[in-house]
Amino acid sequence: MARTAFKRVLLKLSGEALAGEQGFGIKVDIIQEIAKGVAAAVETGVEMGIVIGGGNIFRGIAASATGMDRASSDYMGMLATCINALALQDALEKLDVYTRVQSAIEMAEIAEPYIRRKAIRHLEKKRVVIFAAGTGNPYFTTDTAAALRAMEIDAEVVMKATKVDGVYDKDPKKFSDAVKFDELSYIEVLNRQLNVMDSTAISLCMDNQLPILTFNLDNPGNILKAIQGEKIGTLIRANQK
Ligand code: GTP
Repeated sequence: MARTAFKRVLLKLSGEALAGEQGFGIKVDIIQEIAKGVAAAVETGVEMGIVIGGGNIFRGIAASATGMDRASSDYMGMLATCINALALQDALEKLDVYTRVQSAIEMAEIAEPYIRRKAIRHLEKKRVVIFAAGTGNPYFTTDTAAALRAMEIDAEVVMKATKVDGVYDKDPKKFSDAVKFDELSYIEVLNRQLNVMDSTAISLCMDNQLPILTFNLDNPGNILKAIQGEKIGTLIRANQK
């Protein structure tokens, strides 16, 4: 089925994407490349919100597995997303892309608080809105934050940029005969336990008919291709049959 270009999207970037080979922290040349990809996309006039993860700095779930209180470790993860949001804002502004950072946890000296109607106003004024601090709640991932914010700003799609070029039936690194899906339904993703987003995020998208497009960020030019409706990655949506 043909895909169409989008007018308003929510881009989900993982924190790890900023770290590159080093696996932690922020690699300046990588964040610059991602910013260029975003800049090229917004130049077309698309309205873009971005949710960024924090796993390059701190992973809440991993820390709780080692005995740390889950809520505390999740709050630390949320703070990590704020660091990434400010870094991405800086990289985008160096390219003359207007941006606003809104945080789900109030920190007025650092970022605007998350206010839905204000976020929409910023988008209408063609500013990229970077949503920091996840949903502001422990036990929710930044994938769920991406699904939630996408619905709140009335985005047509949540675009999940990852390290692989779509969803496969099995691990393509281990199995040479792994097959990539062009399209999938939410229920197939859940039933097959395909590693796209956590089940809370997928369910939220399914219940609200929000399509998910997952594609490879190793080439940040894919952001432009994705918003222009080029057939890349894997599109997850309600069964079309
Ligand atoms: P419009 O006037 O509606 O076009 O939006 P605006 O974002 O340009 O106006 P506003 O006066 O709200 O913001 C001016 C600058 O202050 C922007 O860079 C905002 O991101 C920033 N800003 C606004 N509110 C806050 C806040 O609560 N905390 C922080 N740290 N910055 C804020």
